[in-house]
Amino acid sequence: MNKIRLIVTCGFGLEAVVKRELLALGFPDTTGSDGRVEFDACPQDIPRLNLRLRAADRVLLKLGEFPAKDFGQLFDRTRQLAWETWIPVDARITVTGKCVRSRLASVRSCQSIVKKALVERMGERLGAGWLPETGEEFTVQVSILKDVAQLTLDTSGNGLHKRGYRAGAGEAPLRENLAAALVLLSFWDSGRVLLDPMCGSGTILIEAALIGRNIAPGLGREFAAEKWPALDPEDWRKARMDARAEILPAGTLKIFGSDIDEERVRDCRMNARRAGVEDDIVCERRDISQLEPPGPYGVVVTNPPYGINLGSPADLGPLYKAIDAVFRERQGWSVYVLTADKKFPDTFRRGKPDKVRKLFNGTIEVNYYQYFGERPPK
Ligand SMILES: C[S@@+](CC[C@H](N)C(=O)[O-])C[C@H]1O[C@@H](n2cnc3c(N)ncnc32)[C@H](O)[C@@H]1O
Repeated sequence: MNKIRLIVTCGFGLEAVVKRELLALGFPDTTGSDGRVEFDACPQDIPRLNLRLRAADRVLLKLGEFPAKDFGQLFDRTRQLAWETWIPVDARITVTGKCVRSRLASVRSCQSIVKKALVERMGERLGAGWLPETGEEFTVQVSILKDVAQLTLDTSGNGLHKRGYRAGAGEAPLRENLAAALVLLSFWDSGRVLLDPMCGSGTILIEAALIGRNIAPGLGREFAAEKWPALDPEDWRKARMDARAEILPAGTLKIFGSDIDEERVRDCRMNARRAGVEDDIVCERRDISQLEPPGPYGVVVTNPPYGINLGSPADLGPLYKAIDAVFRERQGWSVYVLTADKKFPDTFRRGKPDKVRKLFNGTIEVNYYQYFGERPPK
């Protein structure tokens, strides 16, 4: 079986979550940091990983890694890679790039050098004088960090956060893979109550329901590598069939959401329906100040309004106070709050957070404040 090297990309701060997911999928030997996790795999793993990874951004096939201190080196080493194994002669080839702390700093120039080298190599190996670029799109990424270039092919296409279920959303919906990561970091399990009292379009609730029912998040979408002639379509069919066979029945989860805005509640219900988890989530309109938590034990995962368009931190005082009023004394509830507002722990007076994890919501730096509650008696 051919060995390949894969890189799973993710948001900064989520590498450990992705590594844990990979471990559960049978990849114990992973390395990486700075939003990239790398490991050995086989081509047959590409469908499975795209379908099942929850917190990841993309799955990239690594074709090479080498020092690239000047354009000559970048060109020569790119030309040595076996692009023709993966890319067909009629492919439309897009090269994306980034350069960080490197002598080669012009991303545009690196992109065009890579494209030139790759086209030259493919033309030579496939006996084509020129490449028509009329077929499927293949995206190559050149990523240069501290003068070392990594060249990869994107297997995912649209980012993995695009599950395909989101139709309605409010002003600041969380990315689906970040929402999944928040749930995975909370150590909520499907036997426990989960609540998002500011649920917006319901991303956290829906991702929890997908986790709770073991529904692979990518089942409702397509991936770039489905069109690759180098991969066996049977592997994609089988990966989908296996994932479907592992789905657990609806009706056992205890997932609750509420939001002050009726329109968001409608979005949440519609998105849950599109994700196939409408029977797993109860969502209603409610101001958090009127919230009565469903039972003495549970897990809150939420992201209150914050950020540039959603009012200054000063506006959020009453909201934080409401969270404090509901959950300060309720020690049976674990509380997980994602916010950019560093004042949150001053207002939520249950004590110091047990853990604070720095994450990014898009480009906004945020903190994930974690307050562990007592576990329910067995
Ligand atoms: C950042 S958004 C949550 C986005 C959500 N995680 C998603 O993915 O769509 C914050 C939400 O808090 C809601 N909200 C604001 N004040 C509230 C209150 N007093 N009680 C309940 N919800 C409130 C807003 O309507 C908004 O939908």
